[in-house]
Amino acid sequence: MNIIEQLRPLRAQINQWRRNQQSIALVPTMGHLHDGHLALVKHAKAKADHVIVSIFVNPLQFDNADDLKRYPSSLASDLQKLSALGVEAIFRPTVDELYPLGMALTPKIHIPALGDEFCGAHRPGHFTGVATIVSKLFNLIEPNIAVFGRKDYQQLLIIQRLVSELNFDVEIQALDTVRAEDGLALSSRNVHLSTEERHLASQLYATLKHIAVEAKQPQRLDNLATILAQAATHLGQSSLEVEYLDLRDASDLQAVRAGTSHAIALAAVRIGKVRLIDNILFELPPEP
Ligand code: PAJ
Repeated sequence: MNIIEQLRPLRAQINQWRRNQQSIALVPTMGHLHDGHLALVKHAKAKADHVIVSIFVNPLQFDNADDLKRYPSSLASDLQKLSALGVEAIFRPTVDELYPLGMALTPKIHIPALGDEFCGAHRPGHFTGVATIVSKLFNLIEPNIAVFGRKDYQQLLIIQRLVSELNFDVEIQALDTVRAEDGLALSSRNVHLSTEERHLASQLYATLKHIAVEAKQPQRLDNLATILAQAATHLGQSSLEVEYLDLRDASDLQAVRAGTSHAIALAAVRIGKVRLIDNILFELPPEP
């Protein structure tokens, strides 16, 4: 497995594959890999001749220095997992390699509107950091395919818009969220949960599922505020502090409206020091 830390050998590897007219799939990650990440990697393996996984904890997308400092890392085990899957190349740059001018002077990409609510509102600058690093990776690697998870659904929509509006020649493929047996979405941050918090955390997905069931009932739009308020109360009673909880049109995260066919219930909660996000996507029956 080729572990690449600098831009020059990265370009050499990419050029070699390109000369042979072989396709490349990119899986961007911040490391501390779990089965959710590995599902993306397996998918990428099946779709392209070569897979490159990036592991980079991107400081530009952290609004909180403590969160960045605490972000878990387990490089040796990450490399073992990726090697077992037959991944050929890992791109693991340093911050200086990717941001030689530093965070303040690097040009940044802002995606208006889509990133303003939800995680964008609670983590100022987060999606600008994500859009910027993903653009850099697309420019450096020029992958045919890039694979992302629906767990970070707002991020996924932002990346799709980035690609369509900035004319990147890459196909974005999205995969469903991989969950633990009790429904909790796998996340690198779950390691910070105590045993008791880990137990309570399963209420997040259970509550989202409940919202989906309720929202499919007749006259759902009239009841939406009540459904959401009750769900927020339930989360609060389970010691999950709600940052946001809403039901939106899945195509653009705007309000559910006449004609919305696919909805998303999405939430961010804090449990102790850990912030968890999750969502559930579902079809809405047409209004009678
Ligand atoms: P990270 O949180 O490491 O996630 C990397 C990819 O794995 C993302 O596409 C994310 O949606 C996906 N993922 C995370 N948990 C998942 C789960 N339980 N099931 C399926 N997919 C899952 O998201 C980022 O890193 C960064 O913002 C990044 C895109 C790498 C830019 O820095």
